[in-house]
Parts: sequence; C-alpha cells; structure tokens
Amino acid sequence: MTSEIIDLRSDTATKPTAGMRRAIFEAEVGDDSLGEDPTVNHLEEIVCELLGKEAAVFNCSGTQSNQMAIRAHCDQGDEFLINETGHIVNYEAGGAAALSGVSARILRGEGGLLDIADLEGTVRPKKMNYCVTRLVCVENTTNHGGGRAWPLEQMNRVATWAHQEGLKVHVDGARLFNACVAKNYSAREFVAQADSVSLCFSKGLGCPMGSMLAGDAATMHRARRARKLFGGALRQAGMMAAAAIYALEHHISRLTEDHNNARFFAEQLAGIQGITIDLEIVESNIVFFEIDPKYGSSSQLCEQLMARNVKVGPFGPQRLRACTHLDVTREQIQHAAMAVRECVKEGSAQTGRVAQFAGSY
Ligand SMILES: Cc1ncc(COP(=O)(O)O)c(C=O)c1O
Repeated sequence: MTSEIIDLRSDTATKPTAGMRRAIFEAEVGDDSLGEDPTVNHLEEIVCELLGKEAAVFNCSGTQSNQMAIRAHCDQGDEFLINETGHIVNYEAGGAAALSGVSARILRGEGGLLDIADLEGTVRPKKMNYCVTRLVCVENTTNHGGGRAWPLEQMNRVATWAHQEGLKVHVDGARLFNACVAKNYSAREFVAQADSVSLCFSKGLGCPMGSMLAGDAATMHRARRARKLFGGALRQAGMMAAAAIYALEHHISRLTEDHNNARFFAEQLAGIQGITIDLEIVESNIVFFEIDPKYGSSSQLCEQLMARNVKVGPFGPQRLRACTHLDVTREQIQHAAMAVRECVKEGSAQTGRVAQFAGSY
C-alpha cells in the first residue's frame, strides 16, 4: 500500500509547483487597492486579452468574484436564474441574499446546464408585485452537475435568449479552462456574449489562491466597489498574481492529462460490482459515482478508502465525487481505483455479516 495520501476530494488540493513558487518569490509588488501592484495590473491585462473583455478585477476567491458579479449586475429585490446544482446558489453561504438582497430562481436543467426550454417563461412580468428578473448564471464546467462542459452553441443560444429578454449573463468559470480543453473552444469564444465571467486560479490551474472577474468597464467599476465593500480589497497581491500568470502560461494545456486520468478512473469504477457510474457524463476532471447500499454508504466507503490513503468526498448518502488534478499521477489513480474495488468488496462482506446477524434473530 502506498504511504502517500492521494487526495481526490477536490482540485483545490493542489500545492504550488517549484516553478510557481519561484514566480511568487520574484514577483514585483505594490498596493493593489491603489491600482499600484504591477503584477496584478499585468495579470488583469492578460485576462482581459484572453477573454476579450474591457476590464478585470483580481480577487481572493471564486466565491468573491461571483458575489461581486451579482452585486454589480443586480439591485436589491432582483432575482437571478440558475441551475439547481449551481455553486452560487448552493455553496456560497447564501451570499446573494445576505450581501446583495438578491434571490435565486432555481431551475432544472440536465447536468447543471440550462437550455431555452428550461428558461422560457421564467422572466417575471414587469409589475409592482414581482421581483425583477435580472440575470442568468451559467456554470462551466458544472461542478455538481457532474463536471459537464457547455457546448458552445448552447451557451450562445442561452445568452442570445437572455439578452432578448433584457437579462444579463454571468459565467461562473471556476473551471472554464477545463471546459475549453474538453470542448476545444477558446475561453474568449465561450464568453463572447457573457456580460461577466469569473475564473479560478486555485483549482485545476494549481495556484494557492486567486480568482478574476472580467466584463465591461462600467460593470467592473461597480464590482471593484463591491470588492471593497465585501472586505476583499487587496494590497501586495502581486505575489499571488504572479502565481496566476505562471499558471496561465504553464498549466492550461496539461489539463488534458487530468481529464484522461478522470476518464481512466471512471472506466475502472464502471467495472466494479456495486458501483454505478454514468461514463457519458465524464467530460472533464470530475467523476461522480454511487455505491449500492448493499455495499455500504458513501461515508463508509470514504472511511475505508482513507485507511488506504485515498481521499474522496461523499456527496449524499450513496454519491461520491473524485477530482483529478495536477498533484495526482496515473499511477496514483490506478491505486485509487484498486482501493475502491477492495473497499467495495470489504463493504459487501460487512453488510453480508450484518444481514446474517440480523437474520439470526
Ligand atoms: C463552480 C464553482 N464556482 C465557484 C467556486 C468558488 O471558488 P472558491 O472556493 O475559490 O470560493 C467553486 C469552488 O469549488 C466552484 O466549484
């Protein structure tokens, strides 16, 4: 058994590489809240160019970028449309309501995506007793939707519909580059019709922290004010911006490796009796799977795997998630898949014992 921990709970588990640490060490810095950090300014320019947007604001986290976008697009009492699996509505501590007085209209859509059929009829009439529907939030890739990558045509269809309805479009692109690699489009193409887009540097790109929000200058001006209001104005943040620049230069094309590892892991799991997995939806670095209750629960399986130095996350009584990333090799993935096989077998033996025992009463 390997003695090293194989952490598949999230792609946020990555630690900065030697090259990234060197870039951090050598970064030129200044006071970003005064607009004087040259490395942050340089990163913001790079991202504007990459995404084809007028302005960008560097932030601590993806959550902060998303919440700044909500604040910048909406007034108190407005609502936004989002898939029921969306990070913004499920995992940001109720930020839209708490920080901006904005509510979410939760929609069903396959795999965390949305299409016209899901959206049509959701815009509220402009009458005194309704809140104002203001914004559509798109997540690419969809995290809890299964790591699905939006088809480009679907994004353009949804954005065109939104604009016709007078709505803005925000892209939560925490893993946008995973989607780009999976679907073979550029980030610029994907967000061409988006009014704002957030990126995360701390996930598949391997940085210790950092996120960017980009959009038109007026919206980013409001977002920058929101950043200050939310306590997120930065000082000598160039050290983290240097990590992000390093990641954009070195860690995008290698995401293919993570996707190949995820597919390999998913295929291994598909061959294990007691595990259910939909191989069709494994498009990026995220693998959701389920354990049959006869073989134990998700938390039992996590515990058993931990005893074999493999960490995965439980997401529901039977559902689990594994993410591949920069810090896991193919060999480790092979070990993790083998560990799942052994644990499920062990779980079946245990539940078998329980059943036998219960049957003896
Ligand atoms: C889709 C998505 N959006 C936003 C975030 C928030 O990022 P952070 O953890 O940097 O706040 C995450 C984090 O996992 C995410 O998966």
